[in-house]
Amino acid sequence: MKVLVYGSGGRDHCLADTYADSRHVDKVYFAPGNPGVLHTPKGKRGLIEPVKLEDFQKVADFCLEKGVDLVDVGSENPLEKGLVNVLNQAGVKTVGPKEAFVKLESDRAFTNDLLRRIGVSKPEYRIFDDPAAAKQYVRAIGYQVVVKANGLAAGKGAIVCEDTMDAEAAVEKIMVEKIFGDSGKRVVIEERKYGTEISFFAYLDGKHVMPLKMFAQDYKPAFDPDDHDSIREFGGNLNTGGTGCYCPHKLLSPWLVNRIIKEIVNPTVNAIYNDLGWDYRGVLYFGLNLDPYDSLDVFEINVRHGDPEWEVLARKLSTDIFEIGMAAWAGRLDQVKQVWNDQSYVDVIAMEGRSKAARGWNKGYPARYGKGHRIVGLDEIGKGVAVYFAGVDQDAEKGLVTFGGRVLHVVAGDATLEGAREKAYRSIRKIAFLDHNNDNMNCMRFRETIGL
Ligand code: GLY
Repeated sequence: MKVLVYGSGGRDHCLADTYADSRHVDKVYFAPGNPGVLHTPKGKRGLIEPVKLEDFQKVADFCLEKGVDLVDVGSENPLEKGLVNVLNQAGVKTVGPKEAFVKLESDRAFTNDLLRRIGVSKPEYRIFDDPAAAKQYVRAIGYQVVVKANGLAAGKGAIVCEDTMDAEAAVEKIMVEKIFGDSGKRVVIEERKYGTEISFFAYLDGKHVMPLKMFAQDYKPAFDPDDHDSIREFGGNLNTGGTGCYCPHKLLSPWLVNRIIKEIVNPTVNAIYNDLGWDYRGVLYFGLNLDPYDSLDVFEINVRHGDPEWEVLARKLSTDIFEIGMAAWAGRLDQVKQVWNDQSYVDVIAMEGRSKAARGWNKGYPARYGKGHRIVGLDEIGKGVAVYFAGVDQDAEKGLVTFGGRVLHVVAGDATLEGAREKAYRSIRKIAFLDHNNDNMNCMRFRETIGL
């Protein structure tokens, strides 16, 4: 079988890698892909092949020409632009929702109202189109809030606020300065919750739901909590949309999985199939919070796997992904058996740190970061430790170089979480990003506390 994975980030690379492990699959095309893949064993063997295609009709033509059996769309942007619609019209089988159903992620106000209507627990929230009214609201309620851009923002559109001044500043940044572009024309202001975040996933096939009975924890803040110097320098511990991840989550238990399915997944899927009448096929991501008083709330719903959650879940999943993907397309998810191996996994993300610019310095991700730094040390990573590439590029002279703020994921597994952490950190320390403006000093940065 031939599969095409559409995307270019770490989650998409991991998806391509997982399909390449399927006993049914002998070729995975990765479009538009990233050049890092060619530096991995599967890329070198031609099992995963990046193809520089972005135009949706060209992707459909390519699938027909090559006889691609299934396309899995990894991220929200191509889904929102209707890639699945174009492929299905051409007769290509897909995993991922159609354009109209992406609203669950791209319109928080719509999803919040849906959840409220069906009685699924959410933090208290209000929706605003006017910044003055939003500021008046945060002043009036006084309690801590999270201010969220209503539209897509690559998993980064939420600002967690300590106090009223913070909340007013967040409204200003999102609605007036438009740091997330037009996604911030409308905001959702939510009560800030404390507790433990849980990222929970389910596959849908238009008739059934297959909740994954395994969940992960994402680390969103850019810095370790005790990295006071950086937090001060960057003006807060910014929410980056993922600096690392581990699974199984420390709260994983059969009773909590059952509770999540009963209180959250089933009512939501029932509303999608029966109230909205949507033929939704693909992944649903439930961003949840369990607070110290046992209240289980939905923070957000997304229409794809989490990044970096998928990078650890995929390693732990023993069920053949091609069988899941085909079942999601064909309405047969009720016949899929879920199997998970007994290892723990840790994903540590290598980011661009402080580097020298032509004039002055780049502070590094999540502020301004440099690009084009040669990535070295990949050949020293031991067997069994996966490297998934995100913000990378191929330079004619330097070879593989950095291109984004979050550059690559190092994912290691072991019988214990401590063992997985030890392997992941030992491996990532072998990699360096050479700062050509600064005597080739290493400008890579990563968090030290993933999985702790
Ligand atoms: N892990 C956050 C996201 O995928 O949006």
